[in-house]
Amino acid sequence: MALNTEIAEKDTPDQTPFKDLEKRTIFKNLSVFDTDYIPDEIFVRREFQPVVRFYFDCLKFVLQQALVIIGPTGSGKTLAARYYGREALQYAAKRGISLKIVYINSREIASPYVFWQEILRNFDLVTPKGLSISDLVQRFIEVSRGARHVVIILDEVEKLFTTLGHDKANNILYILSRLRSNHNLETAISMILVSNNAHLVDSLESPVRSSLNVQTLAIGSYSPDELTGILENRAGKGLKENTWNPGILRCVAAKTVQFNSDARFAIRLLKNAALGVESEGREMITQEAVNKAFIATKTEIERDLLARLGTSQLMVLAAISRAAQGQKDRLIKVGQVYKNIYRSFCESQGRKPLVYSQFLSIVSGLQNYDLVNNFVERRRTGGFIRLLEINFAPESLKITS
Ligand SMILES: Nc1ncnc2c1ncn2[C@@H]1O[C@H](COP(=O)(O)OP(=O)(O)O)[C@@H](O)[C@H]1O
Ligand SMILES: [Mg+2]
Repeated sequence: MALNTEIAEKDTPDQTPFKDLEKRTIFKNLSVFDTDYIPDEIFVRREFQPVVRFYFDCLKFVLQQALVIIGPTGSGKTLAARYYGREALQYAAKRGISLKIVYINSREIASPYVFWQEILRNFDLVTPKGLSISDLVQRFIEVSRGARHVVIILDEVEKLFTTLGHDKANNILYILSRLRSNHNLETAISMILVSNNAHLVDSLESPVRSSLNVQTLAIGSYSPDELTGILENRAGKGLKENTWNPGILRCVAAKTVQFNSDARFAIRLLKNAALGVESEGREMITQEAVNKAFIATKTEIERDLLARLGTSQLMVLAAISRAAQGQKDRLIKVGQVYKNIYRSFCESQGRKPLVYSQFLSIVSGLQNYDLVNNFVERRRTGGFIRLLEINFAPESLKITS
């Protein structure tokens, strides 16, 4: 008899295991804090105007063009390219213009073949095995004919250069830029190249640059006020009322600027502070909660970043962090890391060490991720010495295989 009552009670909606959370959660919507979430309305930066103009020229004048957007991590590059792309699609649909937007993150591209496969996948085409690259290009030309304009967003494009090498990456861009004239296409094929490397345009060979008709947009990091504007939007959508106030968002923005001015960091910090408050059964996000969440968010972001690096970058970084752990001095001598640590470390991992010039270019690449600062100092005895300092906790990096 007692058993029956228990079952009956569990069946009533009030007895669900979620009841407590339902009452306690201070979130209205957790997904607005996701990295890939594209808001309905963004905080408009004046710097984004060339992106608006780019899409407008695509739609109105079928102008084939390339826009290079460069700027530090978390400055809204990806968001601007995707958000205005979505707006352009809506505008095109209303006016019966056939526009296709292809989004590719270069991190996923391991070879030129995969690149063309990815492009076709954006058209919902699965490529059967056994095709050559030129078959894939041919298929792309065919599907493109169906649109008036194809815009290819190539995100984190510096990775295309590091993974495929200079020649192959240039070759892909060259093929794309010449498709229209070489194949009598009426479709225009435009590109948005997104990168955190300020020198990206230098990697483009001159034939590519001239046939792409490149325009560059450099955007800077967000100011505390701008970050507050972005946070207001997320807080409004994601958090219940009376759990936050404008002052707390300013505090999150100020903390973020202390670290790296990355909007992604600001959004995560707000989310983590809210989760902290929620787990303590309280409702109002306080400055103390933000301070507490700061360290955890920093570690989280660093871990994410490491997951995005390639093996050669990780090997160099591991050698640098060993050097940092083995010395008290904040400044690390790059030449010594190479000679004394890096080479033997590679061998112990069964990998061929890079030559010194390649090692140096990886070190400067790590600077693009804000992982290290790398600079040259004049020796008292004459000549120069290359030094670096690290911006992460060396013990957070462990290579196990
Ligand atoms: N102007 C903005 N308005 C609203 N959200 C923004 C804005 N700029 C950046 N964000 C958000 O901040 C995060 C980082 O932006 P993102 O475009 O990915 O930076 P980047 O590509 O420059 O590294 C994303 O979650 C994005 O949605
Ligand atoms: Mg991005």
